[in-house]
Amino acid sequence: TFTPRVFSGIKPSGGLTLGNYLGAIKRWVEMQEDPTYETIYCVVDMHAVTVWQDPADLSRATREVAAAMLASGIDPTKSILFNQARVPGHAELGWLFSCVARVGWMNRMTQFKDKAGKNTEKVSLGLYAYPALMAADILLYHATHVPVGEDQKQHVELTRDIAAKFNHDYGVDFFPMTEPVIEGPAMRVMNLRDGSKKMSKSGESDMERINMLDDADTIAKKFKKARTDPAALPTDIEGLKDRPEAKNLIDIYAGLSECDAADVLRDFGGEGWGKFKPALAELAVEKLAPVSAEMKRLLDAPDELDAIMKQGAERASEIAEPILSRTFEIMGF
Ligand code: ADP
Ligand code: NA
Repeated sequence: TFTPRVFSGIKPSGGLTLGNYLGAIKRWVEMQEDPTYETIYCVVDMHAVTVWQDPADLSRATREVAAAMLASGIDPTKSILFNQARVPGHAELGWLFSCVARVGWMNRMTQFKDKAGKNTEKVSLGLYAYPALMAADILLYHATHVPVGEDQKQHVELTRDIAAKFNHDYGVDFFPMTEPVIEGPAMRVMNLRDGSKKMSKSGESDMERINMLDDADTIAKKFKKARTDPAALPTDIEGLKDRPEAKNLIDIYAGLSECDAADVLRDFGGEGWGKFKPALAELAVEKLAPVSAEMKRLLDAPDELDAIMKQGAERASEIAEPILSRTFEIMGF
């Protein structure tokens, strides 16, 4: 039996979006407050460099992600918060797992296909091997639960496959079968221009995403321009079928106000977008403004941030080290 332990991470590869906030950070705070779990949250900087990162941008983005977590309520006295590069066990276990994982498994990862596009010869080897490192991030702590957005479900399944193959090949019951935790109305926030693609910090245009650091006017403008169909809001969720843009905006509202899409439609069903979009913008500003103000304060205090992260890395290492040395031992090193 394994201690109920949560691990999750965000890549510092650009400004954070409302998708990261609703699909990840907000849920992480809830799990932190749940006495069932120990919680470990990581800025996964080594994943960011699977595509080119300017060094100055990388260190700024790493602090920005840490600041976002702290500003949203991740409490370093309740959770371990650190960045991946500070704990060398991630890279070490990542290598061992790339010897456990099969190339065929990697070939089935849809996110690699999305990110690499057609030009798979020119992308980094790291981008391809990324899910093995992600499995290491999780299993280095024997994490039993990983709260993620929909987009990461396949990678958590791969983590289980790696754990199962390791346990089977070496005849041990050493790594847990980690469960993805994907709950809530906004676990797949789509972008505002194309309802078929997720909102992402690396998406093409700034107008398609709400950034956690956007000001009130920008948020209002982006929601106002968000693509929708001309019909009014339906009165029940059945009416959202085949209306991905409408569903997305309603899910965002539900995520921000911590209710269900059905509740949102009970209030707004039959109304036009001219009424709903300003209400949505107002709600988003109400929730994000205090968070972004605190983020800005922390970004102006980099020493404070760095000290928190350094202490987090020490605590993370204390859990990781015995698990990594036992892994080496099991393998015969
Ligand atoms: P991004 O895709 O923005 O680069 P990451 O890969 O760093 O984000 O993901 C960090 C966390 O945020 C993951 O748990 C991921 O599932 C979640 N996440 C990212 N984008 C979205 C989205 N559009 N909707 C819901 N969750 C998301
Ligand atoms: Na907790």
